[in-house]
Amino acid sequence: MTLNRRDFLKGSAAAAGIAALPAGLARAASPVREFPLHAGHLEQVLTEGGPKTDFWGFNGRVPGPELRFAKGDQVHIAVSNELVGIDTAVHWHGLRVPNAMDGVPFVTQYPIKPGEVFHYQFETRDSGTFWYHPHQMSFEQVPRGMYGALIVEEEKPIEVDREVVWVLSDVRLGDNGRQVEDFGRVLDIANDGRLGNMVLLNGKQAGNDNVLAVRSGERIRLRLINAASARIFRLQMPGHTMHAVAFDGQAVTPRPLETVDLGPGMRVDVVVDFMAKPGTEHKVEDVDRRSRGQLARVSYLDFDPIREKPLGAPMQVQPNVLPEPDVAKAIDHYIVFQGGMRGAPVIGMIDGKPTNIQEIMEKEKLAWTMNFTAQHEHALMHEPLLYLRKGDHVVLRLINETDFAHPMHLHGHFFRVVGIDGRPQTDQYWRDTVLMAPRQSVDLAFVADNLGEWMFHCHILDHAAGGMMGTIAVE
Ligand code: C2O
Ligand code: CU
Repeated sequence: MTLNRRDFLKGSAAAAGIAALPAGLARAASPVREFPLHAGHLEQVLTEGGPKTDFWGFNGRVPGPELRFAKGDQVHIAVSNELVGIDTAVHWHGLRVPNAMDGVPFVTQYPIKPGEVFHYQFETRDSGTFWYHPHQMSFEQVPRGMYGALIVEEEKPIEVDREVVWVLSDVRLGDNGRQVEDFGRVLDIANDGRLGNMVLLNGKQAGNDNVLAVRSGERIRLRLINAASARIFRLQMPGHTMHAVAFDGQAVTPRPLETVDLGPGMRVDVVVDFMAKPGTEHKVEDVDRRSRGQLARVSYLDFDPIREKPLGAPMQVQPNVLPEPDVAKAIDHYIVFQGGMRGAPVIGMIDGKPTNIQEIMEKEKLAWTMNFTAQHEHALMHEPLLYLRKGDHVVLRLINETDFAHPMHLHGHFFRVVGIDGRPQTDQYWRDTVLMAPRQSVDLAFVADNLGEWMFHCHILDHAAGGMMGTIAVE
């Protein structure tokens, strides 16, 4: 079953909250894992002894509760909207769910109105590190605090002493500790997006007071999630080696990384052997040019090491079974990106009508185009960027003609990054979000095997709101 905006506009689609049961659920091989998520208003203290900050979030905290499932679980998440006067809808970033469960207002479902409940039901097809967040006014709802980790464990997890999840984000605070409510400014839309002035790690101020206590000799699997609406993190852990074992939840051959790059929406799992001396302290840093600063402090407890010698390279994470794209028989498509404050002039179409840069920026609050057209969010969007047939093998060349980096995210599918600037890549990682550097071209290959209309957008959420958002239809 596919729903499109025309159905919504005609009012002929399924009523809000009453979703068809995905076919797989009828069999219910594994037990249904039920979980309630309440979207609501809350206050949270971000720094020891500091003032309370106002948030919108899930189940009374930021980040929302960590949802943890086994691979193959039948999941039932009841999202109730307890926000006052604000519609929402929740998307499961990276999960290959049936289209009707994807959480995109006016594309896959009606918004959840205050007081309503929407039942999301799907099977966890892939293991990995994922997350959830609204797709309704996401440039505002996400930085206001609506996000959380969603972990699907492998059948046989890699051996580590402990697992730690870090949800990274930021918040823009005024002197009173309250959030500055300047969401959706053209200045942010047309530049790097709306950056906060305080970085958060698991909902607390990042920095020297955000402590990871470890025991010498410990091996930890650290699941990193960038839930910020615009900030790019480049993580370093001086004195320690981070072995990446998964990108966007998908296994990679373990490899040491000096810097872990995380664009908005992206995840990296690293394994770290903490081999420094008991009682010592170390820093975790963000070295991105815009946000340089300390994220956390690693504090070694004063206990005897649990092992003297470091373990060998970490094990390989159990890979998921994903449909393998065949580049030789693939259809080629191109998407050109233009715009931004320092970019080429944006002259093209808005909602089907020709327009110019002045109008786009000031009246329409749009600053970016994809294939020379700009679209508003969900409700007003018109045609998909691409129509694909189910089972098509596709190579999508993204051509970034802007002076900005863009983390491009595709829903419902994973793709391999097969080329950069026309050069074939040796490690063709699976990803659901790829960080395109300024003026770079990136080739993605995937099999369009999931029916429906899927969002393809920049995960700098202000850019998405400002035109870098479209859909790819698989029919
Ligand atoms: Cu993480 Cu379309 O979103
Ligand atoms: Cu962007």
